[in-house]
Amino acid sequence: MRIGEVKISSPLVLAPMANVTDPAFRLLCRKHGCGLTYTEMINANALVRANKATIRKAQFSKKDKPLVGQLFGAKIELLEKATKILSDYAEIIDINLGCPDKDVMKIGAGSSLLIKPVKIEKIIKAMKKATDKPITAKIRLGLDKNHINAVRNSKIIEGAGADAIAVHARTTAQGYSGIADWEQIRLIRDEISIPLIGNGDVSSYNEAQTKLKDYKVDSVMIGRAAMGNPSVFSGEEINKEKQIKLYEEYLGLAEGFEIVFEQKKRQALWFMNGFEGAVSLRREISKTKKLEEINKILENV
Ligand SMILES: Cc1cc2nc3c(=O)[nH]c(=O)nc-3n(C[C@H](O)[C@H](O)[C@H](O)COP(=O)(O)O)c2cc1C
Repeated sequence: MRIGEVKISSPLVLAPMANVTDPAFRLLCRKHGCGLTYTEMINANALVRANKATIRKAQFSKKDKPLVGQLFGAKIELLEKATKILSDYAEIIDINLGCPDKDVMKIGAGSSLLIKPVKIEKIIKAMKKATDKPITAKIRLGLDKNHINAVRNSKIIEGAGADAIAVHARTTAQGYSGIADWEQIRLIRDEISIPLIGNGDVSSYNEAQTKLKDYKVDSVMIGRAAMGNPSVFSGEEINKEKQIKLYEEYLGLAEGFEIVFEQKKRQALWFMNGFEGAVSLRREISKTKKLEEINKILENV
């Protein structure tokens, strides 16, 4: 698949996830067969003001390519400027039109834009004008089940010049509950010709392959099933030894970035999952206050 001129080597995509998809974790997923990664969502306003924590979220690595830099915001002028800044680092720039977080929605960003088609069009056009890099959008199905408007929004996004669309097949009201409605993705597929990335509830490598075939999407995006589990991109079975090794690999990669202990600990808790004895291991890890303590626990396993 190509998004604009950017070639994507595998149709499996790591979803943007705040506090999860740090640059070391992204690299690890790539090693296991993920073809495209996203930064977690970056506040356009803060990026333009060069807020330090925001820049940290936007840490980039030459090996982590192609990378999508995801922005959220409501002010067109700021989104335009932020697109320019991000273009120096990321191969593709994405606008978040799906975040259900109340604070994000309160400022008119994320999901709240789903009911503003004219603004969506303006945002995409402004971002396209700001850079030569491909522009994409990530949407949800609509605000709630009575206001599904994903087909209309997808057509508007394509019409405004976007190079791909990612669809999380849930409404904003659903948050992360209920079941993702892939039939809506099928309807979108019939209406747009730019690359379509399907997302929602894909829990394994095999399921991703089935979704690619059954829904004729160009890519499948995996979120929660990838947390602590980069092997979801290769289909490899996991076990305790492998998960510990993978986490150690993550720590090695993390040395190349500014990643705080709390984030490394969060990752440890996700990696220690899905095998016998994981619960007690997580309980021990949750009490740690520094990395040496986590290392010691894992050495003793
Ligand atoms: C912890 C967490 C953080 C997330 N952060 C973002 C984000 O920054 N930007 C975004 O577009 N979606 C975000 N999402 C949504 C995911 O990208 C994805 O759309 C959603 O989890 C559905 O996919 P899944 O069923 O494979 O998890 C987040 C989801 C989770 C669980």
